[in-house]
Amino acid sequence: MAKRSKSSERWLQRQRKDYFVRQAQGGGQVSRAHFKLEQIDQRFRIIKPKQRVLELGAAPGGWTHYLEGKLQGGLLIAVDPLPITSSQDTYVIEGLAGDQAVNEEISTILDSRQLDLVLSDMAPNISGIRTVDQARAMDLADVTFESCQRWLKRNGAMTIKAFQGEGLDDWVAALRKHYAKVHVTKPKASRSESREVFVVAQGFRV
Ligand SMILES: C[S@@+](CC[C@H](N)C(=O)[O-])C[C@H]1O[C@@H](n2cnc3c(N)ncnc32)[C@H](O)[C@@H]1O
Repeated sequence: MAKRSKSSERWLQRQRKDYFVRQAQGGGQVSRAHFKLEQIDQRFRIIKPKQRVLELGAAPGGWTHYLEGKLQGGLLIAVDPLPITSSQDTYVIEGLAGDQAVNEEISTILDSRQLDLVLSDMAPNISGIRTVDQARAMDLADVTFESCQRWLKRNGAMTIKAFQGEGLDDWVAALRKHYAKVHVTKPKASRSESREVFVVAQGFRV
């Protein structure tokens, strides 16, 4: 068998010890990410039966699986360039959020209907250069907000993964003009050493 590098051995040890990874494996969930969304939902009650939801950055499908369980008769559109594990009722779009072709596909599916909720767990490809990675993450946040401006209904909600760093505080401050309530939260399932946070915005003012 090939010898593992020290860093991959460290990663494996961390995965084995990680409570949420073990829960995901034992409970048949697709990924640890599932628990992040569940904890956000338990606190902010953003997902309800029959809602129309756009999920950006959906692969491999942890959030999709959670949403499918809760929407019961709703409509779910999941977008990612990578393969998403989903039920046959979910509309899967293979592509990049913000691309014209993807936007056209979303508009066709919605057929003039509006969304109740826009979710993003998108993460940029990490270059290792902090300023570059932060700028890319903020670009993805902008793409998510643009989706809200196109399709989110009045009083709708948005939840997006972001990273603490340059630009986030200003971005959140600007968001407060468009939503009645904005919270920055870190669910327990998010690794404490990660800069990842989630911005939960409710009461869209259009
Ligand atoms: C952390 S993973 C998402 C995990 C997912 N929420 C789950 O529960 O399984 C981040 C995803 O964002 C996707 N992504 C990054 N940029 C994107 C973009 N512009 N449009 C759509 N997806 C994107 C990546 O392909 C990756 O699958």
